[in-house]
This record gives sequence, C-alpha cells and structure tokens, in this order.
Amino acid sequence: MAEYRHEEEHLKWEGSFAEYVELVKERPWIAQSSHSRVFNMIKDAGVEERNGKKDYLFFKNQLFGLEDALEKLVEEYFHPAARRLDVKKRILLLMGPVSGGKSTLVTMIKRGMEAYSRTDQGAVYAIKGCPMHEDPLHLIPIALRDDFQKEYGIRIEGNLSPLNLMRLEKEFDGRIENVPVERIFFSEDKRVGIGTFSPSDPKSQDIADLTGSLDFSTIAEYGSESDPRAYRFDGELNKANRGVMEFQEMLKCDEKFLWHLLSLTQEGNFKAGRFALISADEMIVAHTNETEYRSFISNKKNEALHSRIIVMPMPYNLQVTQEERIYEKLISESDVSGVHIAPHTLRIAAIFTILTRLKEPKRKDIDLIKKMRLYDGELVEGFNDSDIQEMRTEYEDEGMNGIDPRFVINRISSTIIRKEVSSINALDVLRSLKDGLDQHASITKELKEDYLGFISIARREFDDMAKKEVQKAFVYSYEESAKTLMDNYLDNVEAYCHKSKLHDPLTGEEMTPDEKLMRSIEEQIGISENAKKAFREEILIRISTYARKGKRFDYQSHDRLKEAIQKKLFADLKDVVKITTSSNTPDEQQLKKMNDVISRLIDEHGYNTTSANELLKYVGSLLNR
Ligand SMILES: Nc1ncnc2c1ncn2[C@@H]1O[C@H](COP(=O)(O)OP(=O)(O)O)[C@@H](O)[C@H]1O
Ligand SMILES: [Mg+2]
Repeated sequence: MAEYRHEEEHLKWEGSFAEYVELVKERPWIAQSSHSRVFNMIKDAGVEERNGKKDYLFFKNQLFGLEDALEKLVEEYFHPAARRLDVKKRILLLMGPVSGGKSTLVTMIKRGMEAYSRTDQGAVYAIKGCPMHEDPLHLIPIALRDDFQKEYGIRIEGNLSPLNLMRLEKEFDGRIENVPVERIFFSEDKRVGIGTFSPSDPKSQDIADLTGSLDFSTIAEYGSESDPRAYRFDGELNKANRGVMEFQEMLKCDEKFLWHLLSLTQEGNFKAGRFALISADEMIVAHTNETEYRSFISNKKNEALHSRIIVMPMPYNLQVTQEERIYEKLISESDVSGVHIAPHTLRIAAIFTILTRLKEPKRKDIDLIKKMRLYDGELVEGFNDSDIQEMRTEYEDEGMNGIDPRFVINRISSTIIRKEVSSINALDVLRSLKDGLDQHASITKELKEDYLGFISIARREFDDMAKKEVQKAFVYSYEESAKTLMDNYLDNVEAYCHKSKLHDPLTGEEMTPDEKLMRSIEEQIGISENAKKAFREEILIRISTYARKGKRFDYQSHDRLKEAIQKKLFADLKDVVKITTSSNTPDEQQLKKMNDVISRLIDEHGYNTTSANELLKYVGSLLNR
C-alpha cells in the first residue's frame, strides 16, 4: 500500500499551461488523440509475426483463437483511425454472436487504457478542474494554431469548451499561459476518460445520460440557463472525453442517441444544453449481435446511419485447442476450480462445440472432422495450407453461429454441482451437453439432430483417445518400445531393399530379413503385398534425405510409419488390456498390472484415482464390445 501511494505521488504532475507546452516539446506523444493512444497501447504490448500474419500480444492472455479478427480490427480500424484517416469518423461496431468475446475485448481496451495512462508512453494531461478533462492545447487560439503546428508538428483539433472559455476570462484574465494543467489517470470508477453507456427503456432514458444536464440548484446563483457554470457536464460522453466509451447493445438504443454519437464521431463535437458545440475526443466502441444488426440494416429509416458505422466481425473461435483454453480460463475464474477434471474432458467438449460452429466444406474430398483438424493446425495427409485458406473463404459467416462457450461452462458446472462429485470426465460432460440441448433457447429441432450427431462424433473421438491412453499406460516405457520396434523394422527393410543379410546381434549368425515382422507392421495401415516394395523403398529414400540434411530419422519422422508402429504395439497389447481390465475377479498378477497402470495414469498422465479407475473400466467395456 505504501509503495502504491508512493508511486501515485511520483506520477502526479501539475503546472501552468506554459510549463505544459515545454513538456509537449520534449515528449510530443503526450498530446496524441484518443484513437492514437489506443493504437499505441496495443502496439506497445508487442507484435509477433506468424506465417505472414500479425499477432497482437495485447489480447493474448484473454482472447483465444481470434487472431485473424483482431488483426483485421487493428489494421482496418485502430491503426488508420490513429492516423486520422476516414474510419476515425465512423462508429466502431463489433458484430458477433452471443458470448463471443465482444465485451471481453472492450473491457480489455478500457482496463488497458487505465493502466496505459499511468505509463510514460500513455501519459495524458488536462486542464485542471475541468469536468471533461479538456485537452490543454484547446487553449491555443485558432489564429495561432497554424504556427503551432509548424513549430511543434502537432495538429490541434477542437475548440475550447464553453466552461473553460468562461473560466479563462473570469479566473485567468484571458492569460492562457497561466491556466493550470495536471496529469490525469484514466479510471472508469472515478469517471475519468472511460465510460460505459447501456440502453435502458427508450421512453424513460434521458439524453442527459450522454451529454449532461442543467443543475437547477445553481441556476439562481448564475442567473441563466446558458451559463456553463450552471450545467453539469457529467454525461457519459463528457466523462469519457480523451479516452474510450463503450456503447453496449447500440442498436437497441433510440435513434436520437445515435445521432449524438454520429455527430461526435463525424465532427468531433456534440451539442449539450444551450451551448455552442462541445468538442470531444474519444473512441466509441459499440457492440451488437447479428440478428439485431440485420434488422437494423433492413430498416429503410436507418439508411443514413449505415455509411457512418464501421462494422467489424467478431466471430467465435474455430480452433479446438483454443476453445479448450477458453474453458480452462473460465473454470479457473469460477468457484468450481478445485474439482478434478479428467484429461481430455475439455478437449472433447471443445470438439463438440467447434463442430457446431463449422460449416460443411464444399469440396467433396474433405469432411467436417478433417476440416476441424486442419483448422486446429494438425497435419492431415493430402492437404496443405492453401487448402485451409480455400476453406476459410468458402463461407463469409462461418463462426457467426453455433454453441457458445458459456453454455458449455454452464453444463460443466451443473454436472459438478448436481453430482456433488470431486471428479468429472468427458462422458459426464457429453451427457450433460446432450441434456442441455433442450434448454438452449435457440436450438431448433433440425439443429438438435445435427448437434446430437456431433455429440456422437465427439464420443468416438473420446473412445479413441481413451483406448490409446490406457494402452500407452500398459507399456512400461511407450516411447522406448516404439523406438525398438521401429529400429528393428528399419534394419529389416534395409536388408530387404539391398538384398543383403542381417546379423543376429547375439550369435553373429547371418539371417534373411524377417518378412513376417515387416508385414505385421505394414498391414496395420493397409499396405498390400503388391505395394510393400514401393513403401519400403520410399522409407529408405526418406532416411537418406534426412541423413543428407543432417537430421535424425526417428519414429516420429514418417506419419504413416508412426501410425503403423503405434497400431502394431496396440494390437499386441490389446488382449492383455482386454483381459486385465474386464476381469471381474482379477488374479494376483492382473491386480498388480492394474495397479501399475493406474499409478502410471496418475503420475504421468494427470488422472486422479477416481478418474483413472473410471477410464480403465470404460476402456475395458469398449474392448469387449
Ligand atoms: N475467443 C475467446 N477467447 C477467450 N475467451 C472467450 C472467447 N470467446 C468468449 N470468451 C469468454 O466467454 C465469456 C463470454 O464472452 P463475452 O465477452 O461476454 O461475450 P459477448 O460480449 O460477445 O457476448 C467471457 O468470459 C469471455 O472471456
Ligand atoms: Mg457482451
């Protein structure tokens, strides 16, 4: 606390306007516009290049899987607006499906600006005592502004507000250089530079919420309604001056409110009470969902507004891995964060969710599941980056509907709460998602059919993962076994292709290549007797290519071979796993094996006792089907 107070003291600055101008000379960026400040805040947090695209680190730990939308937002709005290009004159409207992260994004910008205003790069100064924290440079008379720009390189926009104009005359005798200036710190709580406006009942909502109102108690004192001292500049637009105003559910709002905003974004000023126009400099960020946007667009009455709004899509994330991170984040923020969630549970839920958001690929050679994998950055044989690009452009509105993350989290929490369990697994969650479909307001009958299909797909994915996990846990050291089998196979392949013999490492005897072993592996991935020669030769070529590049060829280097080795290992194991896991009265040896496997699941794979036992039981039942 003491340190914090100390820092507060340290950050404070107060001086005359003349002194402020000296500051501006040294650090011109302190006079930047609100749009420019927002952009610089985002840029200063760091930018990373990734396959020719830009990742803005500012959003990194809160928003997942939205890199493309965020890049577009920065490149097409924040950046050009910071340069005072035309988009600055339009209201920014984020349009996307419910719970897609719109509010989260705006909140990040608001909280970000609060923190940024406390840094050197983001410092903001204002006329002291002004309820709108007016830009001190507004004090410079219009006639001198050209000279100022020539000397300082700073263009001043906006006129001195009626209140400060009056103060200048009455309190400072017209001597601009004496007007006090102070450093301000954005704070939504203190209503400095950050505001939020949300529409209420259109009939009762007062424009004063935006632009302030007359203070009747002081009219008598000042004698007139047009005396700015009798006016309270405490509307949301006043208070958000210099920073950011969030406009929630903009299209639910009455038109008269929209026109005020339009004039503000378009001309940089708005009308309040009986005063001349009031200049303000703030970024307005509004958000809405697609349905509301469509009905707004289709209303002829709103035509004039269209061209003054810039719509930026905020679709749902479409990557399984990122969706998992969203759930992890939401769970860690909740009170159920102490409950054990078995491995793969969130992934399986994410697979279901992403399937509901994806659109059927138009190409025939690719199905929804492959598309899901490709979008998530997995390798799928036969497809490359350009196929992914092609799919991304097939539909304009992909990601604009489907299941939202909140629904999934609610289903997970309700499972936990209803069952009062300390551990949940993928099957619990899938069951709960299924039950929840009926309660979801926007799921029609046809949609429900599709969604049930996606639940089955997710279930099959889980079956695969569960089997693999258990089988891996059955092998003392999986990687080692895979490597040994692979080395053995490669020795044989080499001898086969070179028509040479192998040496038995123990006896030194010469042996012919072990055809049975090679075939038992190749058959796992359906390589026929006729195709085996080509397959083996291809592998040798791959090995020599690796050798030439100085890279080591291991069992991960060849996708199909890796798959074959895995399957072979599992096939050898299948009977052991089956017998061990499904025996009702296991003998001593089986019991020991089970306990080993359970310990391995707990120590190496992140299970707890309950979830490990559940997994074993489930896999046992799968293998016996
Ligand atoms: N792509 C995403 N990355 C991270 N969190 C997300 C994402 N989409 C949604 N969320 C989370 O889901 C919840 C709902 O999002 P919210 O921002 O309120 O959505 P909206 O305002 O679009 O309805 C929030 O907790 C948010 O953090
Ligand atoms: Mg919201």
